[in-house]
Amino acid sequence: MQTIATVTQQLWSNVDAYIVGRLLRPDAALDAALKDNAAAGLPQIDVSPAQGKFLHLLARMIGARRILEIGTLGGYSTIWLARALVEGGRLISLEADAKHARVARGNVERAGLSSSVEIRLGRALETLPSVEADGLGPFDLIFIDADKPNNPHYLRWALRLARPGALIVCDNVIRDGAVADAASRDANTLGARELFDAIAAEPRLTATALQTVGAKGYDGFAIAMVD
Ligand SMILES: C[S@@+](CC[C@H](N)C(=O)[O-])C[C@H]1O[C@@H](n2cnc3c(N)ncnc32)[C@H](O)[C@@H]1O
Repeated sequence: MQTIATVTQQLWSNVDAYIVGRLLRPDAALDAALKDNAAAGLPQIDVSPAQGKFLHLLARMIGARRILEIGTLGGYSTIWLARALVEGGRLISLEADAKHARVARGNVERAGLSSSVEIRLGRALETLPSVEADGLGPFDLIFIDADKPNNPHYLRWALRLARPGALIVCDNVIRDGAVADAASRDANTLGARELFDAIAAEPRLTATALQTVGAKGYDGFAIAMVD
């Protein structure tokens, strides 16, 4: 018997497929990246195609020249974002898992983006100081999509490395609605709630969050602009 949850998810997936069918063109490099991720056994926790294009559009809208991504996985969102860079722009993506970084480098290379993308291996809280020391910022857009309990730390780093007017985007902040549950003890949900608290307490940020539904379920993005 189908539950309401399965029927609802089916509807969200159908509408996502409709959106992709109307507004996204077939894309050999992105499709191959997802195939290689699956073949290598990577978890299917990349952004959806429609969400990837949303990130791409955000980066294009602000004419991003320097993008920092925290959490590469197989490079699917990396490719979407790197394609939005202005001529001569650079994207640095931080990834803790050596296998993920290896698969991502292959996907980025096949997409023809190796010259504009660097994937830096290591836990982000350990590699972020080197991003600063190497003078790779200030960044126009920072996409936070790694281990959720560290979100408040990533937000602090994002603020440190952002230029005035930069966008900070953080994925998976709604968590099936659990973010609004003050009694939750789930570490990822607490990471999302602490991120909201940190954003709310930061006078330099103007922010909102958007709930999303689709092929990847019910979740959402926080989006903040640095004043
Ligand atoms: C949700 S996935 C990223 C998805 C990717 N942004 C996309 O949409 O294609 C999260 C990634 O963060 C990585 N990660 C987890 N903890 C990390 C850490 N402390 N530092 C850097 N990366 C980390 C995981 O290995 C995983 O590849």
